[in-house]
Amino acid sequence: MQRSVGEPDNFYAVPELADHYDADNAGRPDLPFYLRLAGRIAARRVVDIGSGTGLLCRSLAARGHEVIGVEPQLTMLDIARRQPGASAVTWVHGTAGDLPAGWAELAVMTGHVAQYFLDDEAWRLVLTQSRRSLRPGGHLAFEIRNASLEEWRRWASDEPGATSAGTVRADVHREGDLVTHTDHWVQHRREWTTRETLRFPSWDDVTRG
Ligand SMILES: C[S@@+](CC[C@H](N)C(=O)[O-])C[C@H]1O[C@@H](n2cnc3c(N)ncnc32)[C@H](O)[C@@H]1O
Repeated sequence: MQRSVGEPDNFYAVPELADHYDADNAGRPDLPFYLRLAGRIAARRVVDIGSGTGLLCRSLAARGHEVIGVEPQLTMLDIARRQPGASAVTWVHGTAGDLPAGWAELAVMTGHVAQYFLDDEAWRLVLTQSRRSLRPGGHLAFEIRNASLEEWRRWASDEPGATSAGTVRADVHREGDLVTHTDHWVQHRREWTTRETLRFPSWDDVTRG
């Protein structure tokens, strides 16, 4: 059996895990919200920050919006580029700072991307970069999970649970508004450990940026 050694991996950098992202994210309720929003404000151009496998980008492009998806993980970007309809989207390997200035009417961060900015400084920077990518009067839309629900309590598990990427068992550690989950994956005869930290900021922290 293959075991990961050294530091845990980033889930989004492991092709064997990331390949299952779309299957595990089928039927998500947040994406229709962003599609409706882009239509309602008649956004001609949309930038998707942390676009992952491009689930939203491709749906936006299919509805006639011009779309740039920017994503730092090459593994996710490679999956995005292979999907049907991907050629209608401009893909950028990078972060919000790599977006063209004054381009979009709407910038979005979907799938809790806004929670990867782990302190006020990082949050302020991505807000500044997002704003720079927008035309005057443009909109930024994102969601952050409600910290008061303490959903990380449900992530920790003593027993492995089934996902389309294999089974996973999670250890969870919370320190202030930062929650780190370390996930132990088994897929057929292979194993990986991945880790990520998400910030669960207060509403004041979000709006102070
Ligand atoms: C949970 S996935 C969401 C992907 C996509 N937005 C969606 O809704 O399906 C989080 C994504 O954020 C990306 N990400 C992490 N840190 C980031 C950063 N600093 N800037 C932009 N994207 C980031 C990850 O590589 C990953 O693809």
